[in-house]
Amino acid sequence: MEYITLNNGLKMPSLGLGTFGLPADGTAKRCVLAALRAGYRHIDTAHGYLNEREVGEAIRESGVKREDIWLTTKIWPTEYPDAEAAVDRALERLGVEYLDLVYLHHFLGDVKAGWKGLESAVRHGKVRSIGISNFERSDEYRAFFDGIEIAPAIAQMERHIDFTPSAYAEDLRSRGIACEAWFPLGGTVSRKAQLSLPAVQSVARKHGKTGAQVLLRWQLQTGFAAVPGSANEAHIAENLGIFDFTLDADDLAALAGAGSGKRVFDVPLSAQVDMIMGFKFND
Ligand SMILES: NC(=O)c1ccc[n+]([C@@H]2O[C@H](COP(=O)([O-])OP(=O)(O)OC[C@H]3O[C@@H](n4cnc5c(N)ncnc54)[C@H](OP(=O)(O)O)[C@@H]3O)[C@@H](O)[C@H]2O)c1
Repeated sequence: MEYITLNNGLKMPSLGLGTFGLPADGTAKRCVLAALRAGYRHIDTAHGYLNEREVGEAIRESGVKREDIWLTTKIWPTEYPDAEAAVDRALERLGVEYLDLVYLHHFLGDVKAGWKGLESAVRHGKVRSIGISNFERSDEYRAFFDGIEIAPAIAQMERHIDFTPSAYAEDLRSRGIACEAWFPLGGTVSRKAQLSLPAVQSVARKHGKTGAQVLLRWQLQTGFAAVPGSANEAHIAENLGIFDFTLDADDLAALAGAGSGKRVFDVPLSAQVDMIMGFKFND
């Protein structure tokens, strides 16, 4: 495993299991358990994924010590007005005493109040690190940094071989904020197309690796943590096999030109407002 040292001094495993789209019908539990047994020590969930209870069950059943796991969740914009209470509910759903990282999931709603609540949760020992997710979807994100007391440790954003928000990532790095990729393999909607791009396959053959392993190695070597998702236990194990090879300058150059330059999730923030702010949780 490799680690990213965050601006609060904590070390986060650079690769984690993403759990978006893993339903709470036993699938999320099975996949998280498979990941922990395979050696993952970083799990990324969210209130919005509706599977936190199963993630917590898998952690308990795995026998892996809580302090050896980096556990991330995200709170929803409608929860920002009392974000510390949202953290308390997440702790209850997950059945844990603290979270390693909590993100504000979207740049919508009262983000200032949300951040204050997360800062309070840090001061009360409920959360070790706090971060921002999808803030690059609005140019107004810069004003968020005015007057905050705890800087975000990390930002999660859509990032893959087809699309890198470079200016945003550079701005964050200049503020000491680490970066993490969601959709590191292009997401389920792109139907694994990125894995079989000619440049990706050529680099994969050279190293005796798979397309997925090359794409994940590329994330880490270009400075991003990554949380690939999978419902397939063989893929979950395969995705961990990225720490025994290194992409060289030729590989990185070949991969830099391989993608389309387009987002996979290409819905403007303005078109997401009703769906996000209108979403009703029953847990
Ligand atoms: N902050 C946000 O708003 C946000 C948004 C989206 C996602 N996320 C986070 O990012 C994580 C990753 O996103 P994602 O899961 O949607 O997309 P992803 O990791 O880019 O791609 C998942 C797809 O890749 C396939 N896959 C995974 N490993 C594979 C392998 N070794 N070989 C072949 N296919 C493979 C999966 O299929 P199989 O099931 O067949 O393996 C699935 O179709 C999420 O789970 C979530 O934690 C955050």
